[in-house]
Amino acid sequence: TWNNVPLAPPDSIFKLTAAYKADPYPHKINLGVGAYRDDDSKPWVLPVVKKASQIILNDATLDHEYLPITGLSEFVTGAARLILGENSPAISEGRVVSVQTISGTGANHLGALFLSRYYHFNGDKAIYLSDPTWANHFAIFNNVGIKPLLYPYYDPKTIGLDFTGFIATLQSAPERSVFLLHACAHNPTGVDPTEEQWKTIADVVVAKQHYAFFDTAYQGFASGDLERDATAVRYFVSRGVPLLVCQSFAKNAGLYGERVGALHIVTPTKETADRVRSQLSVLQRSEISNPPSYGARIVALILNNPELFEEWKADIRTMAGRIIQMRKELYRLLTEELKTPGNWEHIVNQIGMFSFTGISEVQSKALTEGAHVYLTTNGRISMAGLNSKNIRYFAEALDGVVRG
Ligand code: LMR
Repeated sequence: TWNNVPLAPPDSIFKLTAAYKADPYPHKINLGVGAYRDDDSKPWVLPVVKKASQIILNDATLDHEYLPITGLSEFVTGAARLILGENSPAISEGRVVSVQTISGTGANHLGALFLSRYYHFNGDKAIYLSDPTWANHFAIFNNVGIKPLLYPYYDPKTIGLDFTGFIATLQSAPERSVFLLHACAHNPTGVDPTEEQWKTIADVVVAKQHYAFFDTAYQGFASGDLERDATAVRYFVSRGVPLLVCQSFAKNAGLYGERVGALHIVTPTKETADRVRSQLSVLQRSEISNPPSYGARIVALILNNPELFEEWKADIRTMAGRIIQMRKELYRLLTEELKTPGNWEHIVNQIGMFSFTGISEVQSKALTEGAHVYLTTNGRISMAGLNSKNIRYFAEALDGVVRG
């Protein structure tokens, strides 16, 4: 048995965490996985999460019963308000279906599965992904028989957005194509469209009746402001674009291992929403029965209690602020102190957890092999892995590989 099973390569992101942990070198740095670290390279349990956990532990009325199939209702309704807005007409008109998922990955999967079953694809089942995108997107859509295609996104010449190429593909794609859009803090490039550019993107999406499959794993991480990072999604909803949103609380609440997320599908009418919800329940039941409760309870408390919500916003500002600080410091070290050849403006212009350094695969590998700095071979670095103690070591190592 199983002679037919080929050996698969390890996951491109999580293998870095394993290699980092196994490395005895004292100055090693992990810039691989997108997970926040404090200035001591330690995972950070948000103070507001500690507080909410305490409330849950002390609540004698709570038990370990199953949640409803679509999840904890205080969580999903709060999560929908967070991304779509407190006064979202789509929510008040009952047109939004929200289902609790196994974090953002589960939301992507459930959304993909739903589309593969019920979306009226114009021709082949396909989705346009940004080039590049989070590697897992390819596997998630392939798993449900939706073929990943690419749209131009990153321009290596400018280390910025290939806006012309992006728009051209939106225009040339068949009507009613599905486009996956990163709502903010694009993974892996850290390059986002400007507000003006989002408007033009929406114009073409509306004209071509495309479907927008939004992935939002970094709300709050881009600007430190939850509202601002929801702008693109809210704008698309206001333009009547048919869309869904995959939402994760892994990063912005630091609840990586608790797998807290939601899928929101904005539909044209309440009656449509009821039908869509009924089918999502059927799919969810066969896959996970019902979602886990602990993380959802924590987030529900934070979203529904004004005092905790304010504290959460401050915690997010702490994380986003430290990352922005690291961007500035890396830029300063490279340009002012080390005078590293090349233009490094993108380090401060890109946003969110990641920076696409623009270095080659060979240079990325040289950083790992020569300097014990772990990063994906596309040159992406998780800014959260840098801190006041290791940033100079990193800048010097980067300078070294750039000079060759
Ligand atoms: C990343 O891109 O590093 C994160 O989204 C973690 C993951 O699941 O890959």
